[in-house]
Amino acid sequence: MRTTGVGPTLADVRLAADRITGLVDRTPVLALDSRVLVKAEHRQRGGSFKIRGAANAMLARYADEVVAGSSGNHGIAVAMLGAALGIRVTIVMAAGASDGKARTIRALGASVVQVTGGVVERDRRAADIAAATGAVFVPSSDDELVVAGAGTVGLEVLEQVPGVTTIFVPTGGGGLLAGVCLAASALSQRVRVVGVEPMSARRYAVSVAQGAPIELPPSMTIADGLRGQRPGAVPWPIIRHRVDDLIGVTDEAITHALGVLRRAGVSAEPSGAVALAGALRRGSAGRAVVIVSGGNGTAGSSTKKTEEPPAELLPASTGESACSSLRCLDGAEESRSRRIAADAIRGAAL
Ligand SMILES: Cc1ncc(COP(=O)(O)O)c(C=O)c1O
Repeated sequence: MRTTGVGPTLADVRLAADRITGLVDRTPVLALDSRVLVKAEHRQRGGSFKIRGAANAMLARYADEVVAGSSGNHGIAVAMLGAALGIRVTIVMAAGASDGKARTIRALGASVVQVTGGVVERDRRAADIAAATGAVFVPSSDDELVVAGAGTVGLEVLEQVPGVTTIFVPTGGGGLLAGVCLAASALSQRVRVVGVEPMSARRYAVSVAQGAPIELPPSMTIADGLRGQRPGAVPWPIIRHRVDDLIGVTDEAITHALGVLRRAGVSAEPSGAVALAGALRRGSAGRAVVIVSGGNGTAGSSTKKTEEPPAELLPASTGESACSSLRCLDGAEESRSRRIAADAIRGAAL
């Protein structure tokens, strides 16, 4: 966990948006029906929203070597960026993590270390490797830069869907939910932010109910990106103070949501269908956006873009280069080599 003690703010999310422009896609918003819209992060580079936080952290911190704990998607994002930036990458994965995602990470040139325990053991091992090797630890969600990067999904939703009333957010470690909570404060009118957790991994709902972070036993929900066992120190205070609701959904409900998305031409992975499962369970008045956060299958993962989507409500922006706006969080000049490398990955088909 990396924290300044103050926590990221809306300003950090805006800074992240500048820093990662050109490295990530501004994904489209798709109309699932007249009321429910999909923020299509399954079409993001690397197949999930995770590249936003990873890029923000890896561009802001100089590193020759990076280590991360991941269920797969964060690892894919870090490995892609590492390959493009010439950074050695080690990804630690928990027992039961997707073999397909592990293969993708290795194919991108990163090392994979598998541990026998759950997410808590995984993250402990990643931190140990960082301490022993001097590698920079890039957490999958419990990190100010990662939360700020994830929050750029929320900023885009607010821009793309004027009048949005509710945003449903899949919740694992809480980085995406915390980032969307920060982004939501950019609007003067109230936007409801609803976190959706697998029923067997309701760490935020349980912790909010008890008023303190609670660690749960490992979960084997089919939503493999949402098996985190406890709230992260960085996301926790943000979520606790801002989130409007936290919903639990069963694996059956997630499977049903996957089918709804598939029939609409949206190829989500189970974690990516969780927000829709929540929206279907809770319903919502007005315009709801569900974040389809990833599309890398739990087996035989792929980083390819999926099939043609349903009619796009708004097309993806062309994403003009923001090379000149690449800045370090502390305001220091981005190093020349880092800037050149960033330019290189902008041109590469990530
Ligand atoms: C597809 C997908 N959605 C959602 C999440 C949860 O994100 P967070 O840990 O920021 O809550 C993950 C985490 O790996 C993921 O892979």
